[in-house]
Amino acid sequence: MPYQHILIIKENKYAVVQFNRPEVLNALNIKLMEELADALEALDKDDEVRCVILTGNEKAFAAGADIKEMADASAVTMYLEDRFARWDRIRKIKKPIIAAVSGFALGGGCELSMTCDIIIASETAKFGQPEINIGVMPGAGGTQRLTRAVGKAKAMEIVLTGNMITAQEALQWGLINKIVPVEYYLQEAKNVAKEIAGKPPLAVRLAKEAVLKAFDTTIEGGLEYERRNFYLLFASDDQKEGMKAFVEKRKPEGKGR
Ligand code: CAA
Repeated sequence: MPYQHILIIKENKYAVVQFNRPEVLNALNIKLMEELADALEALDKDDEVRCVILTGNEKAFAAGADIKEMADASAVTMYLEDRFARWDRIRKIKKPIIAAVSGFALGGGCELSMTCDIIIASETAKFGQPEINIGVMPGAGGTQRLTRAVGKAKAMEIVLTGNMITAQEALQWGLINKIVPVEYYLQEAKNVAKEIAGKPPLAVRLAKEAVLKAFDTTIEGGLEYERRNFYLLFASDDQKEGMKAFVEKRKPEGKGR
């Protein structure tokens, strides 16, 4: 399907989705978010794809929601438009999503990177929630995901001052997975995507679900959830093949069944 604001390239068992509004630092307007949710749902159903990379360009992953589009909105238009419904659709994607971030990841851009499962950053990446500077606050999960990732003290600082943090700080504070030189950030994300795409897909899917469950349940509920997913995998061909291959000292062939 042709999209206006995103580009999609499918490579071997993974797909790269690139935001394509460079003239506005990939500001996330409604159309882009609608296309992104549609594309990710389609890739989630695509058997050729086992992992997805979200990226922008060297200068910006995304500089946040499109401020020009929101400037004249009222609480009622914002509510009726239900813009975060698209974010909820993205949150429900089952396949792993890797954010490959260079340059600005601000506001909704930072929130989108945190919605991904793994964040690979270039050394020029800058993260922040600058909504406070324009009279609002994070609305796409920033106060919740940032606090869970970096703790209350740092989250308060980032959200209340609106100041950006460097890739180094983001790494030290536990927000991101890895920093690489700017020439390699996308390649590094592809390396990780290839590695995950080589794993048994059902196990990947149920493991992702179980890790995410830790954010919204008690330890008791989470352990129960994990256990059920673990047992469920014993109903898969991939478990039989994976363990047989180990015993036979060969590489397993995971099929997602
Ligand atoms: N929305 C709309 N347009 C944006 C934008 C945004 N979030 N961010 C940048 N742009 C546009 C600029 O208006 C500019 O367009 P023009 O050339 O037509 O003027 C173009 O992108 C380039 O931007 P700058 O000239 O400002 O570039 P810079 O390098 O001087 O500054 C920047 C870069 C510091 C990121 C600055 O652009 C900036 O502060 N952007 C806004 C960041 C922000 O406040 N994000 C939060 C948005 S609200 C939100 O995201 C809510 C939520 O939780 C979902």
